[in-house]
Amino acid sequence: MSPKSVSVAPPALNPHLMKLQPYPPGKPIEEVKREFGLDEVIKLASNENPLGPSPRAMKAMAAVAAEMHLYPDGAAFYLRDALAKKLSVSPNELILGNGSDEIALLLMLAYAGPTREVITSQYSFIRYLMEAELAGAPVTLVPMRDMRHDLKAIAAAVNKRTAMICLDVPCNPTGSTLTKRELTRFLDAVPQDVIILLDQAYFEYAAALDPDFPDGTTLRARRPNLVVTRTFSKAYGLAGLRLGYAIARPEIVTDVNRIRPPFNANRMVQAAGIAALGDAAFLRRATESNRRGMAQMVKGLDKLGIRHWPSVANFILTDVGRDCREVFTELLKLGVVTRPMAGYGLATHLRISIGTRAENAKCLAAMKTVLQ
Ligand SMILES: Cc1ncc(COP(=O)(O)O)c(C=O)c1O
Repeated sequence: MSPKSVSVAPPALNPHLMKLQPYPPGKPIEEVKREFGLDEVIKLASNENPLGPSPRAMKAMAAVAAEMHLYPDGAAFYLRDALAKKLSVSPNELILGNGSDEIALLLMLAYAGPTREVITSQYSFIRYLMEAELAGAPVTLVPMRDMRHDLKAIAAAVNKRTAMICLDVPCNPTGSTLTKRELTRFLDAVPQDVIILLDQAYFEYAAALDPDFPDGTTLRARRPNLVVTRTFSKAYGLAGLRLGYAIARPEIVTDVNRIRPPFNANRMVQAAGIAALGDAAFLRRATESNRRGMAQMVKGLDKLGIRHWPSVANFILTDVGRDCREVFTELLKLGVVTRPMAGYGLATHLRISIGTRAENAKCLAAMKTVLQ
C-alpha cells in the first residue's frame, strides 16, 4: 500500500504553540536579484557586519576543516577558557549557544513557564516573545518612552509571578541605550529572585559609539540573577556561524547545561571563536567603520528630512512617514534591502543596518529617489 492511499490526520500540535509564526528573516540577496532582475543588491536588513568575517576566524576554520569527522568538545574547554580570560570571569560562569538567541531560549525553557511570567519592552527583540511562547510563559509588554526602555514602568510591572525580564541594550530595533546610572538604579529596584537577561548583542559597536555605554559584566556584583548575553554575530562578523555566550552565576550555568544540546557550539565554531577573540585589529576596523557609517547615515537622513532615533548599534530606526512595506518594496527595486517594521506595529518605520561607505551612499540615494 502506498503511503498516499492512507488517510491519516496530521499530528496535533501542542496547543500552546498554535499562535507561533516562524521568525521572518531578512530577504536574501539572491532572492531579490532573481525577483527584480538586478545584478547588484545590498542587504542592510539583518544587522550583519559589512566587512565580512574576522580574517583570523576564517583561517582558523580552514585549519580545522579536516577534523570535522570528530564530535566537538561538548564543554568547549578552550573557547570558554579564552572567553573567561578576556572577560575576567571564571569558565564556569559561561554558557555558549548556537547564537545568543539560543541562550535566551534555553533560559526561558529553564526558568519561565505558565506560572512564571516574562516582562519585556514593547519594541524589544521580537524573539523574546516567541521564546516565551515556546516556554508557555505569559509575557507583559511594557510600552517604551521615546523608543527607549521605560525602566520605571518595567520595575513597576514586576509581580510575584515574574520570573524573567528581557532587556536588550542596545535595543533592537530602536538602537536606543541606557545610561549606567539608569541601569544600576533599575537593577537595584528589581527583586533579586527575578532573572534579568541583559542582552548586549551589539556591545562592541555600542562601546565604540558611546563612552558611557554600560558594560553588563561590571554590574554583576551583588546582582546574582543578572545574565549578560553577547554574540559573535555582529562586530566579529560571524552571524552565519552561530556563536553567542552568556555570563551568569555558576548555578544558572549548571541549570542551563541540563537542557543545552551537548554540541550546540560545534568544532568549527569553537576554533573560529577563539581566533576571533584574538583578532583585535578586525574588531577595531569593524567598530570604526560602523562609527563612521553611523555618522554618514545620520547626516544623510537629516539632509533628506527623514526622522530617525539615536542609535548606538549598527543599525538605525527611521520613520519614513509612509507605509513602510511600500517603501521597502520601492527600495528593493533599486537594489537596497532594508527591514520594514510593520510586524512590530511600527507601520511607517524601516530599520536600516549600517553598511560600508558605498552601501550607505547607495541606500541614501535610493531613499531620496523613493521618498522625495
Ligand atoms: C538584540 C538582539 N539579541 C540577540 C540577537 C541574536 O543574535 P545571535 O546571532 O547571537 O543569535 C540579535 C540579532 O539580531 C539581536 O538583535
